[in-house]
Amino acid sequence: MGTDKDTPTLDNPTLSEATAEAAVAMEEYPVPPVSPRASELAMFGGPKSVEDPYRDRWRRIALRDVFRMTLAAARDEVTAIHSKSPIGRLEDRFCRMVGADFALTMNSGTATLHSAYFAVGVRPGDEVIVPSYTFYASAAPILQCGGLPVFCDIDPKTLTLDPEDVARRITPKTKAVCAVHVWGNPARLDRLVQLCRDRGIALIEDCSHAHGATYQGRSVGVWGDIGCFSLQAQKAVCGGELGIAVTNNARYYDRMLALGHMGRMSSDQKAGTFQIDNLCLGLKYRPHLYGVLMASGALRRLGELNRRRRHWYDYLSKALADCPALQPIEAYPGAVRGGLIEYLFRYEPQHAGGWNRGAFVQALQKEGVPAYVDRYTMVGANARLLHEAPLFTEVDFSELGGFLAGGAKPGAIQTDPKSLPVSMELCDKLVALPAFTKVSDKYVQACVQGIRKVVRLANDVHDLRT
Ligand SMILES: Cc1ncc(COP(=O)(O)O)c(C=O)c1O
Repeated sequence: MGTDKDTPTLDNPTLSEATAEAAVAMEEYPVPPVSPRASELAMFGGPKSVEDPYRDRWRRIALRDVFRMTLAAARDEVTAIHSKSPIGRLEDRFCRMVGADFALTMNSGTATLHSAYFAVGVRPGDEVIVPSYTFYASAAPILQCGGLPVFCDIDPKTLTLDPEDVARRITPKTKAVCAVHVWGNPARLDRLVQLCRDRGIALIEDCSHAHGATYQGRSVGVWGDIGCFSLQAQKAVCGGELGIAVTNNARYYDRMLALGHMGRMSSDQKAGTFQIDNLCLGLKYRPHLYGVLMASGALRRLGELNRRRRHWYDYLSKALADCPALQPIEAYPGAVRGGLIEYLFRYEPQHAGGWNRGAFVQALQKEGVPAYVDRYTMVGANARLLHEAPLFTEVDFSELGGFLAGGAKPGAIQTDPKSLPVSMELCDKLVALPAFTKVSDKYVQACVQGIRKVVRLANDVHDLRT
């Protein structure tokens, strides 16, 4: 024990970049003397539970998609602009999937969120309510419109924004609410729609994790005013770097078009909002042709991907149901998960010898279980949740250009941590596994055994409690 060779290392080349980042950020834990039973744990020299590395055989790009991209390249086609191209075909198919009138493809999910905030009219001084438990891109584009994010709490059962807390944060300055369907789990959309309608506030849905998710039988993305889907590499429908926004509002569509889609104004406006052809507001959010071809292939296979992921999601939830140390994340009645880009559970240390989350995750990794500390509870180098990130608490926007210069003063976006009790409590508890899509029964069974083994033996090693 304690030699370099035995020191637990968190490098795991089979984990995704984000996963590895989260793992690297974890501390090393001192190795105390252990009881004979505890030495059954792989982290103390015992046999590993999972011999095979995490390798999902699901391919983000099918051979058919490679052929389509190659064909385009062979024809010397490297770009596409308007709706009478593969872009238009992807948009039509996305509209059919979610039941929207209009879809607009862009070069990232971040671009769709910026476009959505712009389209609903977020302007300097406006506030947008967004959960602190999410990725930067749900909130940062608000700054580009001169608006201020107001961070809200989440429901501990679902991890999605808590409508009651949203209601408490509405002021005359509130212009929009952003509902993030985090990890593919639909937010409580009926309540949020009602709340926003009653107050004349726009509802933007960040559906980046939730491709194919539904709530009360209707797709996410069409409950609010605009639905934003990242189609970036890790997402269920992947176009490398891509995004798509959906809406039933023709004027919002035209406004998103005007923000960054030079070349589509005359042919593709839906409400004729702008008379100027080629209006260009200085941004270019057009997607890359090959990304569009890649995403079109992935969209065709979304049904199968979701079936596979839901199967493994249910399997894991059932297999760990009698393990109080690991509490599943629930879905609201009528909500069906989609995309399922990661499997999250709430770790309850009192049922696992009191080990803190870092030590628990490290023990899982040594067993060969591809678990990691949840990413959104450790955003940035010294922050945990998004509201604590220096971007929102420290940056002096007045030293920057554009809308940012006239926007928030340093310290203007201070969020009282006591006002986010659920998010703050979950900071030390959320643990993740990567999506399981095309993996073997044997592999998942071994992961379950590894998890159960760590929980069972954790009680024997008290020095790792804190
Ligand atoms: C919740 C959420 N919103 C928005 C985005 C931004 O998407 P993109 O990376 O395509 O810009 C992401 C990306 O990971 C995300 O996870």
